[in-house]
This record gives sequence, structure tokens and C-alpha cells, in this order.
Amino acid sequence: MSDVAPADLWSLDPAITFLNHGSFGACPRAILESQSRWRARLEAHPVRFMVDELEPLLDDAAARVCAFMRCDPADFAFVPNATAGVNAILRSLDFQPGDELLANNHEYNACLNALRFVAERDGARVVVADIPCPVTGPDDIVDALIAHVTDHTKLALVSHVTSPTALIFPIERIVRELAQRGVDTLVDGAHGPGMIDLDIDGIGAAYYTGNFHKWTCAPKGAGFVHVRRDRQAAIRPAIISHGANSPRQDRSRFRLEFDWTGTADPTAYLCVPEAIEYVGKLHPDGWPGIRDVCAKRVRRGREVICEALHPFGAGVPTGPDTMAGLIASLTLPDSPETEPPKSSLYTDPMQTRLYREQHIEAPFVPWPCMPSRLLRLSAHLYNRPEEYEKLAGALGEAFE
Ligand SMILES: Cc1ncc(COP(=O)(O)O)c(C=O)c1O
Repeated sequence: MSDVAPADLWSLDPAITFLNHGSFGACPRAILESQSRWRARLEAHPVRFMVDELEPLLDDAAARVCAFMRCDPADFAFVPNATAGVNAILRSLDFQPGDELLANNHEYNACLNALRFVAERDGARVVVADIPCPVTGPDDIVDALIAHVTDHTKLALVSHVTSPTALIFPIERIVRELAQRGVDTLVDGAHGPGMIDLDIDGIGAAYYTGNFHKWTCAPKGAGFVHVRRDRQAAIRPAIISHGANSPRQDRSRFRLEFDWTGTADPTAYLCVPEAIEYVGKLHPDGWPGIRDVCAKRVRRGREVICEALHPFGAGVPTGPDTMAGLIASLTLPDSPETEPPKSSLYTDPMQTRLYREQHIEAPFVPWPCMPSRLLRLSAHLYNRPEEYEKLAGALGEAFE
């Protein structure tokens, strides 16, 4: 078996050098076909499927997925994505005027917005710890976060893998150090499943939310929340539905509420265990082999691109290789634009040019703000070393 899975196992356009698995993932054809079969079964008898079949099917899917992430299905629920998970948790919690909600400068904008929303609602304050970049090691992160904890800190929002800077944060340590100071952690694990050999119970966070449509390659719209048993009573889904006054005694209120949030297509959830099993079999060593080969590929890709950018005063990694997973970021030469992006869906003009002229898809991210920016690389099994070399060559020409 080669280290590179045939790219045509995925539906990706072969004309595109696709180096951005990190944004929305990519789902293999076989899993999309399986999703179509689930949909056909649902549509053959929507009432029987939704009323009789769905709950045991979701229970089975949750049990298999939780075994992969080492947690108890009683503490787990599917949600459409990590943003929905973060919102469900934050909007369930009550804060008091003067409370402090800890974040940091590497967090994902959408989740920071949810934090700001609840802070404003309750008169609490968001405190943003500045973690210097490039990061030299895990201590930089723990030290910066702990330095911002006060007697008023109630909750911390911390990514397991950061979006712009593509760093794996030392989450077990962070959760433990914050807990010792009486602070609960909401882990934004949008990139966790698949990229990291997760041990959710071992991490021990009050709240962990993540995605399956990124690194486990499930269909779009498959995420989860994990809420520690002692915190479940307060946590409600973002959508209140039948579970709120269900007389059933055979399931916890947490499961009753999260498992039905109105009519929706549940087939992405049902495909998650199949995606984990299918992708896992694409490497002889399973998921540990995938992580190893893809991590090496993205680090080597970063090296090649860093070398190409050194003559332009850029090409500095955001952190050591040991803190990169299957995404890795590096500095780009400054943008000619100095204004902050007008939209969070902003696409850098140089990125657009690379796509139009060279058919390369790789995200340029303003960091920490314009005109400075980062390039974030991804590697999944379909990516080949030559793709990073092509990007290095294209960047060398573009900045000349
Ligand atoms: C760190 C982080 N958090 C949250 C998200 C949001 O994920 P989703 O759009 O699937 O909710 C992302 C998406 O890239 C992310 O990188």
C-alpha cells in the first residue's frame, strides 16, 4: 500500500491542487454513496425511519464513534458542527456581571463571537490572552493563559488545534491547570477527531465540541458535543424541542433534548462510523499510520514553502514541528492591503490569483491583522508531496 491514497477515492476536482482540507474537509465517494443509501432508506418511509428507526441507529453510531474518541456515549450528542456545539454550551450557561470569560488571540472568530454574545448578554467580560507567535513550545500557551486567570474567571474557550496558526495546544495540561484554579474549559475541538488520537474522558474538560466532517472525512454537517456528567443538567441544545417535556425515563434529559432538535437530515451522523472505518483502512497502520504520514507530509510541505519564501523575508513557521498536526502555518510576505478584511469570508487577492492562474487552493489568513498574513497548509491521504512543491514554485514566482 502506498502512503498516498488514490485521489479519485474522493470527489475532488483533479484539476485543482487542493491543499485546504482544513476548512471544510472532503468526503470520499464511498461515504457519499453510503449517505445516499441512508437517504433512500429514510425517504422510502420517512415516518417509520424518523419515529422507529432513527434513535437506535444514532445510538449505534454514537457508541462506535465514542469508542474511537474514548468517551461514554451517555455524555455525547451529535450536532451539525462545532459552531453549533459551542453555541449550545455557551448559550446554556449563565454568567454574572463582572465574570470573566477567558479566550486567546489564536481562537476562531465565529466561536469568539459566540463568547462575546453571551458576555454582552450577561454583563460579563471577555479577556483575550495574547499568546506570542511564533510559539516556542507548550509552556508559552499554558503560561499566557494562566497569567490571565483571576478570581473572576469562570470559563475558558480554548481550541485543541488552532485555526489560523494551526497549532496543537497542550489541552490536557490547560484543562488541568485551569480546573485547579476553579475554571471550566470549553474545548473547541473542531479539528480534533481524526487529526488527534483523542481521549476525551482523559482530557476531562467540562465541555468538548468537535467536527467529523473535517479530518474523519464524514459528510458535511456532522459534529458533536461532549458534556461531562456533572455539567449536563445545565446544558440545553440551541433548539428546544420535544425532549424538554418528554415523560420518558429511559434516557437522560441531555440525550432526549439533543437527539431530537426538529426534522433534519440525520444521514451525515449515521455515516460517521463508516467514514472512520473506511478512511482508517486506507493505511496499513490505520489511523495512527494516517496521522503519521500526513503530519510528515504537511511538515515537509511547510519546509519546502518556507525555503521558497525566505528570500522575501517570510516563511517562518508559527511553531515547532512537534506542535503541528495535519495542518501547518507559516508567515507570508505582507499584503499590499492594510485595511482589515470587511468580511470574515474574506479571500486574499493573492490567494484568489493562485487559484485562478495555477488552480491551487490554499488559504491565506490575516494574522494577527493586515498587512501581516499566514498561509495554512493541510495534508490528508490524497495529498502528494509534489503539490506543496508546486505551491512553493508558484509563491516564489508570485512574490518576485
Ligand atoms: C478552531 C475552529 N473552530 C471552529 C470551527 C468551525 O467549524 P464549523 O464551521 O464546522 O462549525 C473551525 C472551522 O474551521 C475551526 O477551525
